[in-house]
Amino acid sequence: MSQVTIRQLGKVFDAAPQGAPAALHDVDLAIEDNEFVTLVGASGCGKSTLLRIVAGLEHHSSGFVSCGGEPVRGPGAERAMVFQHYSLYPWLSVIGNIKFSRQLKANREHITSSDVEAAAGRADALLNLIGLDKVAHAYPNQLSGGMQQRVAIARALMGRPEVLLMDEPFGALDAQTREVMHDMILHIHRIEKTTIVFVTHDVDEAIYLGQRVVLMQPRPGRIHSIYPVPLPAQREQDMKHSLPFRELKAEILARIRESSGISTDLELLAKLSRQATPL
Ligand SMILES: Nc1ncnc2c1ncn2[C@@H]1O[C@H](COP(=O)(O)OP(=O)(O)OP(=O)(O)O)[C@@H](O)[C@H]1O
Ligand SMILES: [Mg+2]
Repeated sequence: MSQVTIRQLGKVFDAAPQGAPAALHDVDLAIEDNEFVTLVGASGCGKSTLLRIVAGLEHHSSGFVSCGGEPVRGPGAERAMVFQHYSLYPWLSVIGNIKFSRQLKANREHITSSDVEAAAGRADALLNLIGLDKVAHAYPNQLSGGMQQRVAIARALMGRPEVLLMDEPFGALDAQTREVMHDMILHIHRIEKTTIVFVTHDVDEAIYLGQRVVLMQPRPGRIHSIYPVPLPAQREQDMKHSLPFRELKAEILARIRESSGISTDLELLAKLSRQATPL
């Protein structure tokens, strides 16, 4: 059984203008346990909407979505999400942020001191995994963007989710930091054995991280193609220069260009500039 099953999924937003194409139409996707799947596609093709539906943050209009065999009816501890903008609590230290969800749970439920100890051990292990054990007691405003995002990832992993949903998590970081984050998230994926669904605008990032790349297209939002990535499981930065990498990148970029409407926009601009009266 797949970890995440999405069948004939459709989404029409109530607030969408009359006659607007569906945000998602007939989306079919099965994601296996411990798979790393990346989603790319032109802006507005429904990547975030799809991720939010799997997270249970958004309702779907038609079709079916399940996680671990259970239909998704809302947010759940087995699914954690990381957003582009580091959503850390500024009043809590690094370790405080990582433990936060556990703390909430502890306040709600009756737990024993060995549960508390186990949680503390887990937080320390995660802190090590993200390489921030030296700054456990620093506050978010004392950290760089990359460090803050590492804390957000550790916080999401604290409850041992089956599925980690990431919406352009490295989109706001510079290129060098992104490379470091790429190798870190691959390492985390190996160690934690989490299933990862990762949305990005960056085709290099999608190929480097993903075992499969799902290419979506807009109006209505749907899956165009699914590409298995022809690279060894153990990724290395040099692979970005290999022929299979470059060929897949060229193919995906060409398909995105076709569907993004850029050429239509350029034609419209050319038409407008012909109509413009000279000053
Ligand atoms: N809350 C909402 N109400 C109405 N329409 C929405 C809402 N959220 C998204 N949409 C529309 O649904 C479509 C898909 O949006 P979504 O944000 O999922 O795209 P995306 O692929 O994540 O785009 P981007 O790459 O720009 O982040 C778009 O046409 C968008 O305008
Ligand atoms: Mg988006």
